[in-house]
Amino acid sequence: MVKKILFVCLGNICRSPAAEGIFKQKIKERDLEKLFVVDSAGTGSWHVGNLPDKRMRSTALSRGIELTSRSRQIEENDLYEFDQILVMDKANLDAVKLLTKDQNNSVNSKIKLILSYSKNFQLDEVPDPYYGGQNGFDKVIDLLDDAMDGLIDSLTD
Ligand code: 4NP
Repeated sequence: MVKKILFVCLGNICRSPAAEGIFKQKIKERDLEKLFVVDSAGTGSWHVGNLPDKRMRSTALSRGIELTSRSRQIEENDLYEFDQILVMDKANLDAVKLLTKDQNNSVNSKIKLILSYSKNFQLDEVPDPYYGGQNGFDKVIDLLDDAMDGLIDSLTD
């Protein structure tokens, strides 16, 4: 059975495109591409249609990951369409849950903080790098690279 995975942040130009790119690269390396459909979205609409932020693209590329997604805004139907919705921070979590009046467990249990899958870090949230410096973009990749191994392990057990 194909599993559909959606990564979500605020603008869908920094953290969630990086998450999508890292996840796709890891499933390619492990020859698991046929098992997954992968996408990303933002809770906001400011950047719809745009490529990821230049700083995020160059940081990812320096680690061998090309980011080519286009920003889109998450919609209610995504909550039913996808099997797992991995958000970057608690504000994203609240915003995604507010998309539906259907506050039942089958929807809510699909939505999780991506760093709940961390193996080597203790943070709960992937910090928003948009208004900061290069360190923030490197940190996004470090945190997501680590958590993605935990996520893929849990999905392929
Ligand atoms: P992201 O970062 O949520 O990781 O894509 C942001 C991108 C844009 C803005 C905020 C965060 N913005 O305010 O435009």
